Amino acid sequence: MSDVAVAGGGLIGLSTAWRAAQRGLSVTVVDDSPGTGASAAAAGMLAPVTEAGYREEALLRLGLASVERWPAFAADVERAGGTPVGLRTAGTLVVGFDEDDVRELTALHAYQRELGLDAERLTPREARRREPSLTPRVRGGLLVAGDHSVDGRALHAALLRAAQDAGVRLVRDRVTALRVDGGRAVGLETADGGTVAAGTVVLALGAHSGALPGMPPLPVRPVKGQILRLAGAGDLLEGTVRAVVRGRQVYLVPYAGDRLIVGATTEDRGFDPTVTAGGVHDLLHDAIDVVPGISELELVETLARWRPGTPDNAPLLGPGPLPGLVLATGHHRNGVLLTPVTAEVTAELLATGVLPEVAVPFTADRFGR
Ligand code: GLY
Repeated sequence: MSDVAVAGGGLIGLSTAWRAAQRGLSVTVVDDSPGTGASAAAAGMLAPVTEAGYREEALLRLGLASVERWPAFAADVERAGGTPVGLRTAGTLVVGFDEDDVRELTALHAYQRELGLDAERLTPREARRREPSLTPRVRGGLLVAGDHSVDGRALHAALLRAAQDAGVRLVRDRVTALRVDGGRAVGLETADGGTVAAGTVVLALGAHSGALPGMPPLPVRPVKGQILRLAGAGDLLEGTVRAVVRGRQVYLVPYAGDRLIVGATTEDRGFDPTVTAGGVHDLLHDAIDVVPGISELELVETLARWRPGTPDNAPLLGPGPLPGLVLATGHHRNGVLLTPVTAEVTAELLATGVLPEVAVPFTADRFGR
């Protein structure tokens, strides 16, 4: 029996397992195919400011707490995992194309300033000086120097190595149910008919966290995102570029090996895994509108996965609805960003029984019972 069984070997599950093992706990992660869920599709944006919606200040504060942890976390994972994670600290540029966009950028900038955030309005000329491959049609920009990115897949590979080297056991099987005894979570059941017994179970199944047999339902639903990977980008972009094109959001995230991610659709279609012609068309059309040079790149991968959405777009952290169950799920659009803070607070709760203050606004009881 382990001290802790973690359901899910994505970025959240693995990083939590690793941090818990570093605290001296015995940890088993259960996942039939670690890193092939949302972690595989993530663009890797560490973007608390440019991902924040109006009236999401609590989530923004959690994101800022996590982005602050990122440089040390990346260094730590690289040291322990032995491979780079591709942290880029070049910042994020948001651009607008017409008067409505520019009005929106101005309003967004005012709101960010009101919250004391670091964001700078740029003229079209300044925006293009920073990113010369932008279309000349750009009408204004907003530079958020503190919104970064990381290579999500490289991060997962390094975390897997780090966790295993720290003693985390990996069971490559699909989690089918929570095992409950006398009203307490006591382990996980798996597709091969086995059981992983544990003192505490951590639920880190991403979009699949809402309805695990044996567990009361949680307000987590799949939010589909289609994403594209392109090759041959060289130094086409300095950092992440985001825009709204005809009302649709698009982002372009450069990463190692001259690659570029274009994302992402946002669709309420349950666990539909289809990459659609319309989804790919819209993403490419909008990306080429923003950076025309993208039309020359090679399209190397298309992928659809599911964000774990919650009613307020913020994660579920801390004690779960049963004794012995801890939640580390519901990270919606911010799973990569929130990885360090989630791993830290969950490991602290597992090791000491105390949930750190920064995570308290994100317990599941905010939605009632
Ligand atoms: N964080 C970007 C997305 O979820 O599409």
